[in-house]
Amino acid sequence: MKTKQLLVIISTLFILNGCSKDYNPSDNETGISMYQTACSQCHKKDAKGFIFSFDSDNANVDYIQQRVESGSLMMPKFPNIQGEKLQQLSEYILKNSMVK
Ligand code: HEC
Repeated sequence: MKTKQLLVIISTLFILNGCSKDYNPSDNETGISMYQTACSQCHKKDAKGFIFSFDSDNANVDYIQQRVESGSLMMPKFPNIQGEKLQQLSEYILKNSMVK
């Protein structure tokens, strides 16, 4: 029974994942609201409130922007988060992360 519930949760996550590519922030979205809508399902804050623990080379806005634009095998890309919105989101992520 527990396994079955877990499977349902995992498949729901995959469905949500498919949708996140279409995520399109409206003008009044902020860094935190974009993070909560588009990222927090996979990138939760830890007990201290940090989202990521970056290598020092990667602790910058450019790196985060590039990850959001390109995605990866494991992470969807977000082509509709652009310009000022991408800047705001990346600054929020950086401010709420730590450096290894
Ligand atoms: C469906 C799950 C998922 C969503 C949604 C998602 N990510 Fe990711 N992301 C991942 C996974 C898994 C990794 C680690 C594996 C990899 O590097 O691809 C990752 C890696 C990253 C990294 C690199 C972290 C490091 O330590 O170098 C950044 C930055 C990042 N994500 C930002 C974001 C942002 C910003 C959003 C929201 C716009 C987002 N992610 C949404 C799954 C997700």
